[in-house]
Amino acid sequence: MTTYRLAVVAGDGIGPEVVAEGLKCLAAATEGTDLAFETTEFDLGAKRWHATGETLTDADLAAIKDHDVILLGAIGDPTVPSGVLERGLLLKLRFELDQYVNLRPSRLYPGEVSPLSEPGDIDFVVVREGTEGPYVGNGGALRVDTPHEIATEVSVNTRHGVERVVRYAFSVAAGRERKHVTLVHKHNVLVHAGHLWRRTVEAVAPEFPDVTWDYLHVDAATIKLVTAPASFDVIVTDNLFGDILTDEAAAISGGIGLAASGNVNPDKTGPSMFEPVHGSAPDIAGKGIADPSATVLSVAMMLDFLGHPELAAKVEDAVAADAAAKVAAGAAGSQRTTAEIGDALAARIRG
Ligand code: IPM
Ligand code: MN
Repeated sequence: MTTYRLAVVAGDGIGPEVVAEGLKCLAAATEGTDLAFETTEFDLGAKRWHATGETLTDADLAAIKDHDVILLGAIGDPTVPSGVLERGLLLKLRFELDQYVNLRPSRLYPGEVSPLSEPGDIDFVVVREGTEGPYVGNGGALRVDTPHEIATEVSVNTRHGVERVVRYAFSVAAGRERKHVTLVHKHNVLVHAGHLWRRTVEAVAPEFPDVTWDYLHVDAATIKLVTAPASFDVIVTDNLFGDILTDEAAAISGGIGLAASGNVNPDKTGPSMFEPVHGSAPDIAGKGIADPSATVLSVAMMLDFLGHPELAAKVEDAVAADAAAKVAAGAAGSQRTTAEIGDALAARIRG
């Protein structure tokens, strides 16, 4: 029996609702196998902050580090000032655990609807840098709330940080059919960071002779994502560009309700964290109507990361089959509760 220690951070809004279904599907996938997950729930998020003023203490962090993987629901709440939980909890986890690869696959499952008239066969993955760029919090404000206010957010890009995520993106591409990497940046304007990224790709690419690569400015990439999304295989890009592009990628491939992600530390110096791309959706929280599919797909990514691709495929296939059935059922298919969708997915996983 292999036992994994799983830290569960359900978080805010719909987080706890979708995480419950994710765990239900994880149990279904591991039933009858020699895998077990021992879960620890962490009370983090808006409620904790209101009660104690804490977001993520050193003790929380140390306790989380003592796990193999993390499943996270959603972080963020309108009653907490913008940035407090995002920076103090979610980004702190990504940074402190050195989750430098933010892996965000996009697949348009057969039968699933895209707002594009001719989406084609969308199947690409965005490798978003996770610990640098404009997210590092390097900046400040002067003369706040005066006509002469100045605000800066400095994007930090290190050769070490760029090289390791670029190498990871090439290794992902090497394992895929089309073996192609597209570097997305804006080196015609952001000449310092942009050329660091370009030179790094040029230096790493020869390590992967089977993998081809090209370059797109980020503005052009937003166009190509809607005009020719099926042409992408692996996109590698910085933290902020990756944040924006992956919301667009979700929108064209079944919606944000299906977008899963992994915050991966490939060096395993800390646990990797799997979470739906969507937020806490306070407007529908507590109603039991959130779609847990993205969380269930994040569980699939977690199983794959842990070295169980066959179980991951089972879970992903269940979501794909359910998505197709939901579309075929029309309006009736979209009126299921969160738990009903979770039950349906768990049943499909059990086969
Ligand atoms: C995401 C989110 C986060 C991000 C926010 C909540 C800090 O938008 O996971 O994409 O910007 O990375
Ligand atoms: Mn985002």
